[in-house]
Amino acid sequence: MPNACVVGLQWGDEGKGKIIDILTDEYDIIVRYQGGGNAGHTVVVNGAKFVLHLIPSGILHPNKKCVIGNGVAIDPALFLEEVEELRKRNISVENNLFVSDRAHLVFPYHKLLDQLSESEKGQEKIGTTGKGIGPCYADKMARVGIRVVELYHPEHLERLIQRNVEEKNRLLQGLYNAAPLSWKEIYEEYRAYADRMAPYVCDTVGYINEAIKASKRILFEGAQGSLLDVDLGTYPFITSSNATACGAASGAGVSPKQIHKIYGVMKAYTTRVGGGPFPTEAEGALGEHLRERGGEFGATTGRPRRCGWFDAVAVKYAVMINGVDEAILTKLDVLDDQETVKICVGYKCNGKIYERFPPDLAILSASGGCEPIYEEVPGWRQDTSHCTSLQELPSMAINYIQYLEEILDIKITMISVGQDRRQIVRPDSVSSARLSTNLPSYRDR
Ligand code: IMP
Repeated sequence: MPNACVVGLQWGDEGKGKIIDILTDEYDIIVRYQGGGNAGHTVVVNGAKFVLHLIPSGILHPNKKCVIGNGVAIDPALFLEEVEELRKRNISVENNLFVSDRAHLVFPYHKLLDQLSESEKGQEKIGTTGKGIGPCYADKMARVGIRVVELYHPEHLERLIQRNVEEKNRLLQGLYNAAPLSWKEIYEEYRAYADRMAPYVCDTVGYINEAIKASKRILFEGAQGSLLDVDLGTYPFITSSNATACGAASGAGVSPKQIHKIYGVMKAYTTRVGGGPFPTEAEGALGEHLRERGGEFGATTGRPRRCGWFDAVAVKYAVMINGVDEAILTKLDVLDDQETVKICVGYKCNGKIYERFPPDLAILSASGGCEPIYEEVPGWRQDTSHCTSLQELPSMAINYIQYLEEILDIKITMISVGQDRRQIVRPDSVSSARLSTNLPSYRDR
């Protein structure tokens, strides 16, 4: 199976950064295909913490190539900051990092409009990261976006920036009563970025396809999570790109036939940052406890994440739309002190039971909407953070994982029990451990 894609199966922050870092060993090229500075992938290597927003986590491996694909919304200031930070920490970014000339650029007016539009929304706020992602993709779709390649045609760039800034200024002044921006200043700023970005910019579509022909192995790195996908997520409380595996082909410029395996990453419980429905959200002491134990604060914005039990209805949907081959469970250790662990297996709304994830926000929203139906399993009340094999995991932890495998009808082939690269259990599949624990199958209970 030469090429694979890693996606999040919840609302983002599933711990994909660490998993991509581990899987990178098996691949030659790591390609980010959507999103932008809104993402925050945290990787801990020998106690040193790295938070990457645009650059694939594969960059921490010296002999691998990393690509920021055409589907990514690139904020050049953020990109160059990240490059500098990596350089300072002696991580090489020479001849191993490529930026697509087809990718769209994030401009200051995107960030400003993102923030102003949010502040106007009140109760209906999406809770965006304020990084200009929605407005940048909106311009792309409206065919007025500006791509990386345009940075290298100064006259054309000048015309495009002037046209866009003048248009956005009408919006900024008329709708938001905000100060207008200077297109000349923005033009000068981006001309300077053009020179600094030049060593990294290339035709990544050609590069990746040539590499595939030369039998190189590609890992496509998804950002955010499937339930934030613009087409398939909890619209409008989503991000503005295809965070599912479906986005990998268009966002990297390869045929879907070139993606041979899909890894789905899911946290042992659920979190979400920003607004929108979250049926299993625990607002009281449990939510607070999971947030503290799991360090659930946004890697990009520092915002506290909303927390709750594992939602199997939502994840089952994500497994289906991505065609997940193998699931990876993260942050199991956060549940180590729970007496019992709950899993949502359906929603009850107006006397009707939903086992399929509905698009209707009125059903999904907890207030006046659905009531989660939970199954409860015993907790394990033991530290799992040192475990590196299935045999070392407490039998009740295996029971929980096996329960998830069965209910989702998917193999779990990796279990993460801490932030460090080494805190990982890699069984072929947890169901194979059932015999050793003598636990009955979920279906037999
Ligand atoms: P945007 O992508 O900044 O427009 O934000 C839209 C929604 O997606 C908000 O609810 C954000 O909190 C959420 N979001 C964006 N990026 C991430 C991420 O990397 N992890 C988790 N949530 C995210």
